[in-house]
Amino acid sequence: MTTNRTFTMIKPDAVENGHIGGILEKITSAGFKIVAMKYTQLSTRDAQEFYAVHSERPFYGELVEFMSRGPIVAAILEKDNAVEDFRALIGATNPAEAAEGTIRKLFASNIAENAVHGSDSDENAAIEGAFHFSGREIF
Ligand code: TYD
Repeated sequence: MTTNRTFTMIKPDAVENGHIGGILEKITSAGFKIVAMKYTQLSTRDAQEFYAVHSERPFYGELVEFMSRGPIVAAILEKDNAVEDFRALIGATNPAEAAEGTIRKLFASNIAENAVHGSDSDENAAIEGAFHFSGREIF
Protein backbone atom coordinates (compact mmCIF):
# COMPACT_ATOMS: atom_id res chain seq x y z
CA MET A 1 0.00 0.00 0.00
CA THR A 2 1.28 3.51 -0.72
CA THR A 3 0.35 6.44 1.41
CA ASN A 4 0.48 10.12 0.49
CA ARG A 5 2.77 11.26 3.30
CA THR A 6 6.49 11.54 3.85
CA PHE A 7 8.68 12.79 6.69
CA THR A 8 11.47 15.35 6.40
CA MET A 9 14.01 17.15 8.54
CA ILE A 10 15.86 20.33 7.64
CA LYS A 11 19.21 19.32 9.11
CA PRO A 12 21.49 21.38 11.42
CA ASP A 13 23.79 22.53 8.57
CA ALA A 14 20.92 24.06 6.60
CA VAL A 15 19.47 25.70 9.71
CA GLU A 16 22.91 27.13 10.61
CA ASN A 17 23.34 28.44 7.07
CA GLY A 18 19.99 30.26 7.07
CA HIS A 19 18.21 28.01 4.57
CA ILE A 20 14.97 27.15 6.43
CA GLY A 21 12.94 29.63 4.39
CA GLY A 22 14.51 28.69 1.06
CA ILE A 23 13.96 24.99 1.64
CA LEU A 24 10.35 25.38 2.80
CA GLU A 25 9.70 27.49 -0.29
CA LYS A 26 11.02 24.71 -2.56
CA ILE A 27 8.90 22.14 -0.70
CA THR A 28 5.63 24.06 -0.89
CA SER A 29 6.26 25.20 -4.48
CA ALA A 30 6.61 21.55 -5.46
CA GLY A 31 3.08 20.90 -4.22
CA PHE A 32 3.72 19.41 -0.79
CA LYS A 33 1.32 20.42 1.97
CA ILE A 34 2.79 20.73 5.48
CA VAL A 35 0.56 18.71 7.80
CA ALA A 36 2.90 18.81 10.84
CA MET A 37 5.97 20.90 11.62
CA LYS A 38 8.23 21.74 14.58
CA TYR A 39 11.54 23.44 15.37
CA THR A 40 13.38 21.12 17.70
CA GLN A 41 16.75 19.54 18.51
CA LEU A 42 17.61 15.85 18.65
CA SER A 43 19.45 14.58 21.72
CA THR A 44 22.34 12.19 21.11
CA ARG A 45 20.02 9.35 22.07
CA ASP A 46 17.27 10.59 19.70
CA ALA A 47 19.74 10.69 16.80
CA GLN A 48 21.10 7.23 17.66
CA GLU A 49 17.57 5.84 17.68
CA PHE A 50 16.43 7.67 14.55
CA TYR A 51 19.44 6.39 12.57
CA ALA A 52 19.69 2.96 14.26
CA VAL A 53 19.43 1.32 10.84
CA HIS A 54 22.88 2.79 10.06
CA SER A 55 24.50 1.76 13.37
CA GLU A 56 26.97 -0.60 11.69
CA ARG A 57 28.02 1.94 9.03
CA PRO A 58 31.39 3.71 9.39
CA PHE A 59 29.75 7.15 9.34
CA TYR A 60 27.24 6.43 12.15
CA GLY A 61 29.09 8.25 14.97
CA GLU A 62 29.70 11.32 12.83
CA LEU A 63 26.05 11.26 11.65
CA VAL A 64 24.71 11.12 15.22
CA GLU A 65 27.01 13.95 16.33
CA PHE A 66 26.03 16.11 13.35
CA MET A 67 22.29 15.52 13.63
CA SER A 68 22.25 16.43 17.34
CA ARG A 69 24.56 19.47 17.23
CA GLY A 70 21.87 22.10 16.68
CA PRO A 71 18.22 22.70 15.91
CA ILE A 72 16.35 21.09 13.06
CA VAL A 73 12.93 21.53 11.45
CA ALA A 74 10.92 18.31 11.43
CA ALA A 75 7.83 18.05 9.23
CA ILE A 76 5.29 15.66 7.77
CA LEU A 77 4.42 16.43 4.15
CA GLU A 78 1.43 15.38 2.10
CA LYS A 79 1.20 14.94 -1.66
CA ASP A 80 0.28 12.17 -4.07
CA ASN A 81 3.28 9.83 -4.37
CA ALA A 82 4.92 11.77 -1.53
CA VAL A 83 7.89 9.51 -0.69
CA GLU A 84 9.13 9.10 -4.27
CA ASP A 85 8.40 12.69 -5.34
CA PHE A 86 10.15 14.10 -2.27
CA ARG A 87 13.25 11.93 -2.83
CA ALA A 88 13.37 13.35 -6.37
CA LEU A 89 13.00 16.90 -5.04
CA ILE A 90 15.87 16.54 -2.54
CA GLY A 91 18.28 14.78 -4.93
CA ALA A 92 21.14 12.34 -4.37
CA THR A 93 22.65 11.78 -0.91
CA ASN A 94 25.91 13.34 -2.10
CA PRO A 95 25.14 16.92 -3.24
CA ALA A 96 28.02 16.70 -5.72
CA GLU A 97 25.93 14.06 -7.54
CA ALA A 98 22.53 15.71 -7.02
CA ALA A 99 20.62 16.98 -10.06
CA GLU A 100 20.40 20.70 -10.80
CA GLY A 101 17.55 22.39 -8.97
CA THR A 102 17.29 19.78 -6.23
CA ILE A 103 17.31 20.90 -2.60
CA ARG A 104 20.61 19.16 -1.86
CA LYS A 105 22.25 20.65 -4.96
CA LEU A 106 21.09 24.11 -3.90
CA PHE A 107 21.58 23.97 -0.14
CA ALA A 108 23.74 21.01 1.00
CA SER A 109 27.39 21.24 1.99
CA ASN A 110 28.63 17.67 1.48
CA ILE A 111 27.55 14.01 1.75
CA ALA A 112 27.55 14.10 5.55
CA GLU A 113 25.94 17.53 5.95
CA ASN A 114 23.35 17.29 3.23
CA ALA A 115 20.67 19.77 4.31
CA VAL A 116 17.57 17.55 4.34
CA HIS A 117 16.23 14.13 5.21
CA GLY A 118 13.52 12.38 3.22
CA SER A 119 11.96 9.03 4.16
CA ASP A 120 12.87 6.17 1.83
CA SER A 121 9.59 4.21 2.08
CA ASP A 122 5.98 4.62 3.15
CA GLU A 123 6.66 2.36 6.11
CA ASN A 124 9.60 4.46 7.30
CA ALA A 125 7.67 7.69 6.67
CA ALA A 126 5.03 6.50 9.14
CA ILE A 127 7.64 5.36 11.71
CA GLU A 128 9.67 8.57 11.41
CA GLY A 129 6.59 10.82 11.56
CA ALA A 130 5.44 9.04 14.72
CA PHE A 131 8.93 9.45 16.22
CA HIS A 132 8.49 13.24 16.17
CA PHE A 133 4.75 13.94 16.30
CA SER A 134 1.73 12.90 18.33
CA GLY A 135 -1.62 12.50 16.63
CA ARG A 136 -2.85 15.91 17.76
CA GLU A 137 0.17 17.64 16.18
CA ILE A 138 -0.74 16.35 12.71
CA PHE A 139 -3.36 18.30 10.71
P1 TYD B 1 21.32 7.26 3.43
O1 TYD B 1 20.06 6.70 4.04
O2 TYD B 1 22.21 6.35 2.64
O3 TYD B 1 21.00 8.51 2.49
P2 TYD B 1 19.68 9.40 2.28
O4 TYD B 1 19.67 10.43 3.39
O5 TYD B 1 19.88 10.03 0.94
O6 TYD B 1 18.50 8.49 2.33
O7 TYD B 1 22.22 7.88 4.61
C1 TYD B 1 21.62 8.59 5.69
C2 TYD B 1 22.48 9.78 6.00
O8 TYD B 1 23.76 9.33 6.43
C3 TYD B 1 22.78 10.68 4.81
O9 TYD B 1 21.72 11.58 4.53
C4 TYD B 1 24.04 11.36 5.25
C5 TYD B 1 24.76 10.30 6.05
N1 TYD B 1 25.81 9.64 5.25
C6 TYD B 1 27.13 9.97 5.49
O10 TYD B 1 27.43 10.82 6.35
N2 TYD B 1 28.11 9.38 4.74
C7 TYD B 1 27.82 8.47 3.77
O11 TYD B 1 28.76 7.94 3.12
C8 TYD B 1 26.46 8.12 3.52
C9 TYD B 1 26.10 7.12 2.47
C10 TYD B 1 25.49 8.73 4.31
